[in-house]
Amino acid sequence: MTPYLSIHTIAPNQERLLRSLVVDGLNAEPKILPSVLLWDDAGHELFRKITKSQFYCGPQADSEIMKGRLREIREYLGDDGVLVELGAGSIPHTTAILEELYRHGAKTRYLAHDFCQNRLRQSLGRVGKELGTKYPESLHRMRGVAGTYEQVFEWLAKTNHLEGHRVLVIWLGNSLSHISDAEFPDMIEMLMRSIWQSRAASSMLIISVGGGGGQEASALLRSSYDAPDGSSAAFVANALRHANRLLGGANDLTLDPGIWKAVFRANAQGTAGVWAFRSQAPTQLVVDGRVVACAAGEEIDLITITPRDAANVTGLLALSATQVVVTWKHRSFDWSKYTLSR
Ligand SMILES: C[S@@+](CC[C@H](N)C(=O)[O-])C[C@H]1O[C@@H](n2cnc3c(N)ncnc32)[C@H](O)[C@@H]1O
Repeated sequence: MTPYLSIHTIAPNQERLLRSLVVDGLNAEPKILPSVLLWDDAGHELFRKITKSQFYCGPQADSEIMKGRLREIREYLGDDGVLVELGAGSIPHTTAILEELYRHGAKTRYLAHDFCQNRLRQSLGRVGKELGTKYPESLHRMRGVAGTYEQVFEWLAKTNHLEGHRVLVIWLGNSLSHISDAEFPDMIEMLMRSIWQSRAASSMLIISVGGGGGQEASALLRSSYDAPDGSSAAFVANALRHANRLLGGANDLTLDPGIWKAVFRANAQGTAGVWAFRSQAPTQLVVDGRVVACAAGEEIDLITITPRDAANVTGLLALSATQVVVTWKHRSFDWSKYTLSR
């Protein structure tokens, strides 16, 4: 039996929000698509295939680092801390943390956040199944929160779930590599400010990022994000289908997949990569009845990847009021955890 775990949806009209982002992006100059289009149900399944691929080493490093730090995490959270996971997705690593906490009798509450409500429901259901038999009380301590990052930050500031508790926020899966240098310090600031407003007793943030710089960085970037087995291209192509599903009204002419091909471009230094859709011929879109002309070879950017390492994160955070207190390096891959605190 799948245990019932509650999911709080911050904004019930996510589809409408997403559609308006797509419309605005296609009317912008240059045209863009929001990267969150990648994360519908089908996108999550395709991402799971990527995480199993030999070309993407992040998840294994995440899991190995986390397993080596369970005691530290438990000691930080104490008896009744709150564990918040941002962009939890398929929740590949957190059962081990929760198991460690519940095995030692902690009453930790777990708040899993993601944009995709269905994926959150499925993932929490699985975690509940895995832990619920041994620790039935744990089922009352886990819940999901669906929304964008900005929405969950606002929600965290207002909720009473954190008040008086030690709070550990984990942000895994290299998610911050998808946030630009310009946005990165602001996102961290927004998060830290909302936790401060929530009246948490104390807070700590662990983020995992990886694959920055070094020799052969460009080749590594390409093989990780444009895998030779085609798994990344399939993941990206799904975002076009998602955009078309959101458009697709009587007053829309959608992005023809026969014309718009997914392309990956990376700079020679391996410090940035972009997935975009490139038109193979002159074409036009009709968005809400408005005709948008597109030249042959025109590109619509979907997602920018900025591989990050310890030096890069420390540099960016020097601009914010947050400090890196420790970095956990992985032995075989340039992948680190940063514990940040004010
Ligand atoms: C790279 S995946 C990481 C998933 C998981 N933490 C892991 O380690 O496999 C990024 C996750 O963030 C979520 N996400 C991406 N953009 C988001 C946004 N703008 N707001 C909220 N969630 C987002 C996706 O749905 C996805 O689950």
